[in-house]
Amino acid sequence: MDALTASGAGLLLPAVDRTRPDLAAELLERLAVHRFLVIRGGLPDLPGTVELLSALGPINAASTRKDGAVMVEEHDDDEVFRSSAALPLHTDGVLTGFDVRYVGIWCSSFDGVVGGRTFVSDADRALLAAPAEHVEILRAQGIEVLAVDASGYYRSEYSDRWTRFPAFRARPGAGPSLAIGLPHGPGEPESWRIRIPDVDAALSDAILQSLRLALLDEAFTYFHEWRPGDLLLMDNDSVMHGREAFEARSRRLANIQVLAS
Ligand SMILES: [Fe+2]
Repeated sequence: MDALTASGAGLLLPAVDRTRPDLAAELLERLAVHRFLVIRGGLPDLPGTVELLSALGPINAASTRKDGAVMVEEHDDDEVFRSSAALPLHTDGVLTGFDVRYVGIWCSSFDGVVGGRTFVSDADRALLAAPAEHVEILRAQGIEVLAVDASGYYRSEYSDRWTRFPAFRARPGAGPSLAIGLPHGPGEPESWRIRIPDVDAALSDAILQSLRLALLDEAFTYFHEWRPGDLLLMDNDSVMHGREAFEARSRRLANIQVLAS
């Protein structure tokens, strides 16, 4: 089976029978090996997809989410997260306070879209290609983050002031993995800001830029061309994801989060 990134991450599953009792266990096994999966076929509706993912762990049912999902489509307001603007590579949960173990993105419609691909970086592997001295500073200093979107998804205390977090999260029995969001590009509407604390701005920028170059190197990156019914299922500890800016007649994706139990 061919991987979806040259670095060996990602697996395309042509179709699943979601009534199979051992399907969730199989998906967990495959996620542990391949880090992310694209399931194409067998998941024609959102409730069935949420039900399948609920077998992987507790679904994030925060009040900002409806029936276990947030619909992400073009909006006319200033909110960047649910808009047609770009979202840089990130792991889910940093600014919402939820410990997200797996992220599912299910496609409801994708019609007349220019741009708008979701991209995935094999982050754990890509990090090994980043300058070791920069990774060491990141590990020692952590990150500071500011929420710019004030839509209720991010915790309000993170929009008032810069908040410091570790850049890596370690789960029992597993190595540390990146838990950050890269900065937006110049001129892009911002959903968040990030910097490295206690270093000068030039070094902070250089570290984030070298991370960006490593994570988006073509050896580690996969761009998903959406079709309705697709489910992109990711290990939120191992890979990071982002979105291209787009124009669309209709682009409707559901974000479903499986929390660590
Ligand atoms: Fe996300």
